[in-house]
Amino acid sequence: MKPYTDFTHLVSAEREKRANFKTLLSCVLPRPIAFVSTLSKDGVANLAPFSFFNAVGSSPPAVIFSPATKADGTDKDTLINLAAVPEFVVNVVSFDIKDAMNDASFPFPPEVSEFKEAGFTPLPSNLIRPPRAAESPVQLECKLHDIVKVGQGPLSANICIGEVLCFHVATEMLLEDETVDVTKIDLVARLGGDDYSTIRDRFALKKPGSNEYPRRIER
Ligand SMILES: Cc1cc2nc3c(=O)[nH]c(=O)nc-3n(C[C@H](O)[C@H](O)[C@H](O)COP(=O)(O)O)c2cc1C
Repeated sequence: MKPYTDFTHLVSAEREKRANFKTLLSCVLPRPIAFVSTLSKDGVANLAPFSFFNAVGSSPPAVIFSPATKADGTDKDTLINLAAVPEFVVNVVSFDIKDAMNDASFPFPPEVSEFKEAGFTPLPSNLIRPPRAAESPVQLECKLHDIVKVGQGPLSANICIGEVLCFHVATEMLLEDETVDVTKIDLVARLGGDDYSTIRDRFALKKPGSNEYPRRIER
């Protein structure tokens, strides 16, 4: 391993918001994409992608995603909907649906459903009100646990924490041990700018044995 000796220090408090946004997104990657369905108080089903997303716990299974406050200081439809109906579905994004997912990220007005505009088929959920997107190979029904705000005003974070109540997995992707076949699901992830990646190139690392020193200490 080679240590780096020359670092450029970018102090976030001294930089423009947009510059921090671009630098952050270029170094925290690849980011998985939650394609989130919510329901408005008027019953309109909303779909929007969020790459500020991850799994954060397993007992109970938990996820987070963050719809940022918009440049004009208002909230995105997803966040407004969660205040009215505190439930959401995370539909995962496979290569097959990447273009339609991107179409759904257009800022449609709240009365317009991205299901229809982007061509997704709504499927009823088992335990919550927002529908699932049938074209996504795995859908996670979630109950909103909490929303944690970080900062305020444009680009500030609204971290939505959800408890996963039900996993819907396309049966052809489900392995005998009830995990999902990574070779079949073909998910995409977000990089910086307009770039995306697949997970088609993989490698494995065995965990260090509990009775052995890790390799780096042995040297
Ligand atoms: C792949 C992808 C990832 C995105 N990730 C985020 C994100 O993490 N947070 C965010 O606020 N917006 C994100 N966006 C932009 C939102 O999807 C976009 O603002 C959308 O219109 C929000 O929809 P809504 O107003 O219906 O909630 C992303 C867009 C794309 C295409």
